[in-house]
Amino acid sequence: MSLIYDLRMKGPGIGRAVRDYLGEIRHFARRVESPIQRVPLVMLKSIEWSIYRWYKTPLRRFYGVKGNELIYMITNACNDRCPKCAIWEHPEPKNQHLDVSHFLRCLERLHHNLYQVTLTGGEPLLFKRDIVKIADEAHRLGVPMVMVTNGRGLDEGFLTRYQQQGHVLVISVDSVNREKWNEFRGTQTFDLVMPKIEMALRILGDQLRIQSVLSKESEQEIPKVAAWCKERGIRHNVQLYQDFGANNWTYAVEPAQMASDSSPCAARKNICVYPNGDIVKCFDHRRIPIAKEPLGNIARQDILEILCTRRSTEVSRAMLGCNFPCKQMSCNKPQAALFR
Ligand SMILES: C[S@@+](CC[C@H](N)C(=O)[O-])C[C@H]1O[C@@H](n2cnc3c(N)ncnc32)[C@H](O)[C@@H]1O
Ligand code: SF4
Ligand code: SF4
Repeated sequence: MSLIYDLRMKGPGIGRAVRDYLGEIRHFARRVESPIQRVPLVMLKSIEWSIYRWYKTPLRRFYGVKGNELIYMITNACNDRCPKCAIWEHPEPKNQHLDVSHFLRCLERLHHNLYQVTLTGGEPLLFKRDIVKIADEAHRLGVPMVMVTNGRGLDEGFLTRYQQQGHVLVISVDSVNREKWNEFRGTQTFDLVMPKIEMALRILGDQLRIQSVLSKESEQEIPKVAAWCKERGIRHNVQLYQDFGANNWTYAVEPAQMASDSSPCAARKNICVYPNGDIVKCFDHRRIPIAKEPLGNIARQDILEILCTRRSTEVSRAMLGCNFPCKQMSCNKPQAALFR
């Protein structure tokens, strides 16, 4: 199955071919329970491997080189209480936090085909030790990482290491006014986080980005955030307010209007991981009948096995014509459309 993703196998080198073959066949042989059937089945699998080494399947064409984004919602828990967002209202029990080794394995298995790994939540920095491990591994594998954060957990040591690894940090800012900030975050954190943003800018330079959410409540504030970013040379992105289940903010752009533009949803590039390890193709998958149930779980299954199931292909196909307001979310847009 690794052949579907590992397009470097097209490159020259007998060593490469042997490694591809063994990587595929070893997993296969382990799954054959009957010792009598193992040899004939491995022979058949070897023939199949030889064919697929040279034949480019539709699935392989779809998962082009570096064409995917792996997005990990590491937790639902958060130390802020933003009224626009309901994620923090449903934190997973502490003992159900996914062991980071499962995600690292997933990253390792997919890395040839990832242009980016994105960490979000909840608040990812509540699991800073995991984040550091993921950032290290992404760097080692040559996968650029982006983390979206409220900025509360940032410190100099973390930022310095992050900068050296070349990763990008997105801090969410919906106002640069103290009162509005504290209202929008549901916590009195303006005086704590603002100096951290300045520190992040000093250490990260162009690796720092700011993202704001546009709603009726924030629409007066966003131009001021944009101007504040421009003064400091920080790239800024605006995400339209969406229904995250909180219903405390008001749409600046109505859902029908968000869905009405002719832009296609780019979420088919995504491989999304929930805090418990469940895999979906976009975090709004419940809108698509065939995608309601997760495709699998990386705590129990190999990610390539999950992505190669028939339902995974069918879900990707169903997403082709999908047109809901969630297509406007940053994670569902092509990279080139963000942070200009
Ligand atoms: C859910 S947060 C998780 C990461 C981190 N806690 C943060 O706030 O940056 C990811 C992004 O979604 C944005 N967001 C939160 N609620 C939203 C909503 N209802 N509609 C659109 N974006 C929202 C946040 O501002 C943030 O930029
Ligand atoms: S938007 Fe981010 S910081 Fe605010 S409550 Fe949601 S997860 Fe927490
Ligand atoms: S429009 Fe929404 S539900 Fe449909 S594929 Fe895109 S993100 Fe998923």
